[in-house]
Amino acid sequence: SESLRVGLAGLGTVGASVAKVIAEKADELAAQCGRPVEITAVSARDRSRDRGFDHTQMHWFDDPVALAQSNHIDVFVELIGGDEGPALDSVAAALDAGRHVVTANKALLAKHGVELARKSEAAGVILNFEAAVAGGIPIIKTMRESLSGNKVSRVYGIMNGTANYILTRMERDRITFAECLADAQRLGYAEADPTFDIEGHDTAHKLAILASIAFGTQIAADDIYMEGISNIALGDIEAARELGYRIKLLGVAQRTASGIEQRVHPTMVPLGSVIAQVDGVTNAVAVEADVIGTLMMSGPGAGGNATASAVIGDLADIAKAQPGRQQAPALGRPADLLEPYERAR
Ligand code: NDP
Ligand code: HSE
Repeated sequence: SESLRVGLAGLGTVGASVAKVIAEKADELAAQCGRPVEITAVSARDRSRDRGFDHTQMHWFDDPVALAQSNHIDVFVELIGGDEGPALDSVAAALDAGRHVVTANKALLAKHGVELARKSEAAGVILNFEAAVAGGIPIIKTMRESLSGNKVSRVYGIMNGTANYILTRMERDRITFAECLADAQRLGYAEADPTFDIEGHDTAHKLAILASIAFGTQIAADDIYMEGISNIALGDIEAARELGYRIKLLGVAQRTASGIEQRVHPTMVPLGSVIAQVDGVTNAVAVEADVIGTLMMSGPGAGGNATASAVIGDLADIAKAQPGRQQAPALGRPADLLEPYERAR
C-alpha cells in the first residue's frame, strides 16, 4: 500500500536519530503500520554536513516552511527547536497546508500549543507530540488515551534528563556542576540554551503540557512557580543525604481547593522512595487519578534514540490512522472539565 511520506525538519541529535532508525527498521515499521514509512524530504541549515545517514535520494530544503508546504510529504516532523521563528512558522504552515505534524518541541507547545491544536482540529489533521514530554516515556499517549475516564488529581515527576543527570553525577562522582553539564551537552541531552534545563524552564514547559491534558488548563508556562538547580552545591546534596533525603528537580501540577497549582523546584525526597532511585538521564512521571489510583512510568528522558522512539511512535500512529476519523483533541480539552477549555479558546 501507499507509503506515509515524511518531511523531516532538523537533523541534529533527534532528527538524525529518527532518520537512522527509520532507515534501519524500515521492514519492521512497514509490517507494524501496514504501510511503509519513508522520509522523502529533509531540511537543516548546513547541507554539506555528514549526518550519519544518506539523504541524497531525499528532497533537500534550506527553508523548513517550504518543506512544510511541499507536495512531497504527508507528515511534517519539526525537530528544529525554539518557540518562535522557523519552528513556529513551519508547523503553522504545515497545518495550514493540511499536513499532519509531529513535534518534540515543548517550548513551542508551551507557548503556542492550544492555538496549534485548534489549527490541527480545523484542518482535520493530527498533531502529535509524544517526544515533547519525558523523552521516550509514552506519557502523553497514556494520559490522552489509556487514562480515559479518569479524573486526574495530580501529575508530578522528574521531567528533565539534563538536570537529573547533573544531580546524579555530582553525588556519585563528586565532580563539579560545570563538568556534569558539559557531559550532558556532549551526550545530546541538553537544550540549545542549557539554562532552560538547569533553571527549570524546560520542566515548566513539560508540566504545562501535562497539566493542559490532565486539567484542561490553558498552557501558561510563564505563570508556573519555578526554581532551578543552578544554586545547588555538592554540600547541599551531602547535607540532604545525611538527613535521609536526595535532591530532585520536580514538576508538580495538582488540583487544590483554589484551582490548579503548578510548580517546579528542587525537592528533598526520602532516600527510600521510588523517585529517589530515578538516576542519570532517566525521567519518571507519576499520575494520581480516581479510577487507576497512582501510576508511575520511568524511562530515558533525553537523547537521540530515546526521543526518536517517541517520534517514530507518533509517526506509526499517523500511518495507521483511518482517514476522516475524528481525533481526540490534542490539548486543553479533557472530557471532565469543559469550562477551562472554553476559556482557553
Ligand atoms: P539540535 O540542535 O541537535 O538540532 C537542531 C536542528 O535544527 C539542526 O539540524 C539544525 O540544522 C536545524 N535548524 C536550526 N535552525 C534551522 C533553520 N532555520 N532551518 C532549518 N533547520 C534548522 O537539537 P535537538 O535535536 O537536540 O532538539 C531538537 C528538538 O527536539 C528541540 O525542540 C528539543 O527541545 C527537542 N527535544 C530534544 C531532546 C534531546 O534529547 N536532544 C529530547 C526531547 C525533545 P544544522 O544541523 O544544519 O545546524
Ligand atoms: N533537554 C531536555 C532534557 C531534552 O534534558 O530533558 C528532553 O526533553
